[in-house]
Amino acid sequence: MDKYGIIGFPLSHSISPQIHNLAFKTLKIDAQYEKFKIDPSDFENAISYIKTRGWKGFNVTIPFKERIIALLDEIDPISAEIGAINTVKVSGNRWIGFNTDYLGFMRPLENDLNNINSALVLGAGGAARAVVYGLLEKSNIKNLIIANRTKSRAEKLLQSLKNTIKVNIDIIDLNDVYKPDIPINLIVNTTSVGMGALKEETPVKILKKFNNSIIYDLIYNPKKSKLLQLAQAQGCKIINGLPMLIYQADESFKIWTDKHFPEMVINNFLS
Ligand code: ATR
Repeated sequence: MDKYGIIGFPLSHSISPQIHNLAFKTLKIDAQYEKFKIDPSDFENAISYIKTRGWKGFNVTIPFKERIIALLDEIDPISAEIGAINTVKVSGNRWIGFNTDYLGFMRPLENDLNNINSALVLGAGGAARAVVYGLLEKSNIKNLIIANRTKSRAEKLLQSLKNTIKVNIDIIDLNDVYKPDIPINLIVNTTSVGMGALKEETPVKILKKFNNSIIYDLIYNPKKSKLLQLAQAQGCKIINGLPMLIYQADESFKIWTDKHFPEMVINNFLS
């Protein structure tokens, strides 16, 4: 039996094992996907242990998507530019790193791409890197605004994506998102404001000026964050993080097995 897994901390709420194991079962692939929680203070030791587990591939989630890079033998060029890795393929003894988050992120936007000229991305962490890369490479946007609590982090993000940038990009403070005059067609929340202890909070206020925007929150637990609730009440189109989660998993699965998820697996989690 082939083995696959996910590393991260915490992992208790991850549904990746359910998704991948359903796909293996449906496609009659003799494989099992398991969780392996790693305490960040024990990362290097735990990684040596993982080398002995015989995994053929694994996912990497918070908070290790950047830290794993130093331990890879090879990295896909696009993923190197994004600077965050969520998928590792084990080939012999070699670890090859990929980012499938940016593809997963773009999937639910496919039918809206012609209507998106200006986007506002909230946050500048690992998830924001994949979002910004996806928008720059796979949409026709003309203006991109990145708003982060820590401005220097957004500047660093842009610095590392400089080869991909073909549009006008502004970096602003989170408190200034109401100021730009251009109509914004898409707002993406990549911050953790709206989940866990911050469940009752929103990263920005949904004002009238955002009424014609698509509001896309990468949070999927809760399914409808406070931000999405307020946006929906104002008539905005809303998207949560569940499709991104399923489609990034589908792209990881393709890297490992050369097969996409059967439609039934996707429908099982999205409907
Ligand atoms: P991920 O990999 O999910 O992107 P991350 O790299 O830890 O996680 O990034 C978290 C993002 O949420 C960052 O943009 C962070 O802002 P800072 O760069 O200023 O830390 C943002 N964030 C987290 N808590 C926040 C809060 N209470 N208010 C505003 N932004 C917050």
